[in-house]
Amino acid sequence: MARILLTGGAGYIGSHTYVALSEAGYAVTILDNFANSDRDVLDRLARLTGTEVDVVEGSVLDRALLDRLLSERAFDGAVHFAARKAVGESVARPLDYFETNIGGLVTLTQAMRDAGVFRLVFSSTATVYGEPEVFPLTEEMPLSHTSPYAFTKITCERILEQAALADPWAVGVLRYFNPVGAHPSGLIGEDPRGVPDNLMPYIAKVALGELPVLRVFGDDYDTPDGTAWRDYIHVMDLARAHVQSLDALMEGRSHVVNIGTGNPVSVLQMHAAYQDAVGRELPYEIAPRRAGDVPKLYADPSRARDVLGFSAEYGLAEMCTSSWTWVQAQKRGWGFNS
Ligand code: WQD
Repeated sequence: MARILLTGGAGYIGSHTYVALSEAGYAVTILDNFANSDRDVLDRLARLTGTEVDVVEGSVLDRALLDRLLSERAFDGAVHFAARKAVGESVARPLDYFETNIGGLVTLTQAMRDAGVFRLVFSSTATVYGEPEVFPLTEEMPLSHTSPYAFTKITCERILEQAALADPWAVGVLRYFNPVGAHPSGLIGEDPRGVPDNLMPYIAKVALGELPVLRVFGDDYDTPDGTAWRDYIHVMDLARAHVQSLDALMEGRSHVVNIGTGNPVSVLQMHAAYQDAVGRELPYEIAPRRAGDVPKLYADPSRARDVLGFSAEYGLAEMCTSSWTWVQAQKRGWGFNS
């Protein structure tokens, strides 16, 4: 049974990927410092997978810990989620983002190289495309950063390209568009700290009555309803993409792929779909555009289909109903020691 190191595996996408990898027959070890996740997800992962979750608390910046971990267990590869990912925060604290995101990748790959582990799935993002004007976005499009966060992701992609010239790395770079939704059980999902920046968790708080109204940031974009377009992808599809990426790396096939649906959805369309999931009106108001927002971001998903055999399967309705199930279950509690 191949064993995979999942850095940041207690987080939103990491926890869903843990479930998908376990179900695909991989043995998984989670490394997480719980800076942006809670330990209580571990009990729910054990319940979901029927496995004892193998978890090590620590940071990818801790080289001694990585060396110990990689010598204690025979790993076949790693999926690297552990990073800072808030665009706005990266503008305020760029050096912290360089340390964690770039320093963390270099430390992890050095430790992996010295342990002879050369398969890595890297968590990248569609924001590496900057402010594109041609759509849908293909992987050949030029990269440009509009924030220190995006700069760190572009830099990490370049580092991995260079590392693969020196050592026999098999690397899967996955450029996520907008991950949303939750596992249908309601046991795991997105759990942002404080007031959510992102659209779906914000609408969810409005639906719970914890926030009064959704502010729609701009309705004067060049789209049919005037609100911005994004390529939302169900986190269950995204988790499955990681399994298919690892499967390709086990055959030595490196790749850089967009992970999206190819279907742009506007803010008002997302609001309407969430309203349908909840079954009642959710208040919104039009607000000024948010600084840094791009009008459109959506993928040409064909390369992931061609090289990984991956295509998104969940639609907007399941994205919203799974989110609504999760946030209600989270508020109610799961009725077991967690
Ligand atoms: C989506 C749309 C907003 C909140 C960000 C990061 C990206 C990635 C995913 C890490 C936009 C609008 C939002 C609200 C709104 N993170 N919106 N009212 O900005 O596309 O991407 O998260 O990889 O790097 O940039 O996602 O969900 O914040 O916004 O109108 O209260 O919803 O203007 O058009 P975004 P988002």
